[in-house]
Amino acid sequence: MTNPTLETLMAHRSVRHFTTTKLTEAEVTTLVSAAQHAPTSTFSQQASIISVTDPTKLAVLAEVTGHPWLQQAGHYFMMVADQFRNEQLTPNDPTTTTNLHSTDKLLASIFDATIMTEAMVTAGESLGLGSTIMGSILNDVPRLIDLFDLPQLTFPLLGLAIGHPANQPDQKPRLPQGLMHFENTYQRLNPVDDHLTAYDQLITDYYHKRDSHQRDETFSHHIMTEMSRDPQQRAGILTALHQQGFSTN
Ligand SMILES: Cc1cc2nc3c(=O)[nH]c(=O)nc-3n(C[C@H](O)[C@H](O)[C@H](O)COP(=O)(O)O)c2cc1C
Repeated sequence: MTNPTLETLMAHRSVRHFTTTKLTEAEVTTLVSAAQHAPTSTFSQQASIISVTDPTKLAVLAEVTGHPWLQQAGHYFMMVADQFRNEQLTPNDPTTTTNLHSTDKLLASIFDATIMTEAMVTAGESLGLGSTIMGSILNDVPRLIDLFDLPQLTFPLLGLAIGHPANQPDQKPRLPQGLMHFENTYQRLNPVDDHLTAYDQLITDYYHKRDSHQRDETFSHHIMTEMSRDPQQRAGILTALHQQGFSTN
């Protein structure tokens, strides 16, 4: 089964090398519009987008994320979880305050900002653009709060570097559906599952064959490496969330 939308979704790969062509104003507006039309929890539109065009701010983002190449992107968006705007629209009474500062509303703003991000990724890809989502902005949340003057009840969630691809990276194969799509009951993974072994081999082949950064790697080993990162690296996230007024109940 296929159609242009499915083709776009299934051709996804993150792009980290861009030509020097900047996005036009019309392209930026179109991407933001695509984001705005994404589903939004309780129709509360609890996310905002900051276009980062100031080279000094882009340089700070490059430092925080460890991704200097973001400065060559055609455009950079910061996706912000945002209950601040809705706080301005509601009376300052105990029920409103309890709701706005709740973990429930934190999650809702994270859902909204995340879904908007993916809408922009796909909209961009449908226009021939490539992008990379950046969770690595979380490496220094207090610095970004300061840099972008983010008020209480906002949180810098994701960055999005987007532009005209300078190359077409190989696609990273995903897990077989049998390991991640279940019916009615959660299926606990058996680490010696044949499908997992076959997938590990598929990932090994992918890393051997791809154009850049070739290496020996399996998915299982990749997950082990990810989980052995220093937990202190992003230890400040919960504190920053609380400082921004989120998740107080
Ligand atoms: C929430 C999220 C955060 C991500 N953060 C980063 C990041 O900080 N830096 C980066 O290079 N890629 C980042 N990525 C991209 C992933 O590394 C990428 O999607 C994954 O390796 C699969 O590759 P693909 O997108 O090419 O299929 C992020 C993706 C997501 C969904």
